[in-house]
Amino acid sequence: MRLTPFTALADVYDAIMADVEYDEWAAFILRSALERGWGGGRALDLGCGTGNATRPMVDRGIEVEGLDASEAMLRVARSKLPQVRFHQGDFRTMAVPGCFSLVYSVFDALNNLLRAADFEEAARRVHDHLLPDGLFIFDVNTTVGLRDLWEGGKAEGWADDVYYRWVHTFDEATSLARVEAFCETETGAFTEVHYERPYDPPELTAILGAAGFVDIEVVTYPSGARATLDAARVWAVARRPAA
Ligand SMILES: C[S@@+](CC[C@H](N)C(=O)[O-])C[C@H]1O[C@@H](n2cnc3c(N)ncnc32)[C@H](O)[C@@H]1O
Repeated sequence: MRLTPFTALADVYDAIMADVEYDEWAAFILRSALERGWGGGRALDLGCGTGNATRPMVDRGIEVEGLDASEAMLRVARSKLPQVRFHQGDFRTMAVPGCFSLVYSVFDALNNLLRAADFEEAARRVHDHLLPDGLFIFDVNTTVGLRDLWEGGKAEGWADDVYYRWVHTFDEATSLARVEAFCETETGAFTEVHYERPYDPPELTAILGAAGFVDIEVVTYPSGARATLDAARVWAVARRPAA
C-alpha cells in the first residue's frame, strides 16, 4: 500500500531512527545559540516529528514546544512527552501562540519544502514567531548530499521487528530527491514516497536574508566552521534583528 508521507511511518519511525544522534544535535544547537548570546527562553522544534529532538531539550530543562504537519507523528510525540505542547501546522502557514527565543529544526525536515518560495514563506513565518534577537538554527541536505544520499542508493535492514528497504534516486532535471520507503512489520507492509529538495549555502543565505534575517551563517557539524560547497549537510544559524 502506498501512503502519504509520515503517516504509517510514524509507528516505526523511532525504531528505524534509534541510532540517530539527536542528543548531540541538541547540544550543538544550544552551543551555537549560546555562542551567539542566546540567554534562554522558549524554544520551538520545527518539524518535530515524533519528538526525538524535542526530548533532549526537555531533558536539559528548556521550555520547548513542537510543530509538525503530521498528526500521526504528533500522536507519537504526545504519548512520549505529555508535558510538551505540540502544534499541528504547516511550516508555511504556522500560527503558534506567543514568540520564541529559539526556533530549531533537525534531520532535514525543511528539505521537505520543495520550492524556494515555500522555504522563504516558512522562513518568514519563523521570523514572525521569533522575539527580537531570537535565533533560527536548522540543518538541511545540500545538492551534494541529496545526489548521493546512501551508498548504492539504498538503506536496508532490521530495526527491532521492522524490516525496511528505502531506495533513493535523484532527478537532475527537477533537482528533487525521491525516497521510496518500504517497511514491513508483523501487522503488514506499506510504502511511503518522500521528496526532498536540496538547499545550498548561497541560496539559503539569500532566502533567509529575503525573509528578514541577519547575521546569517552556514556552518558544518560538529565543528561549527563555515560550510564549504562540497558539504553534504549544513546547518544555518540566523537572527531576527533586534527591535
Ligand atoms: C525527517 S522527519 C524529521 C522529524 C524530526 N525532526 C526528527 O528529527 O526525527 C520530517 C518531519 O517534517 C514534517 N514536515 C514535512 N513537511 C512539513 C511541512 N510543510 N510543515 C510541517 N511539517 C512538515 C514531517 O511530518 C516529519 O515529521
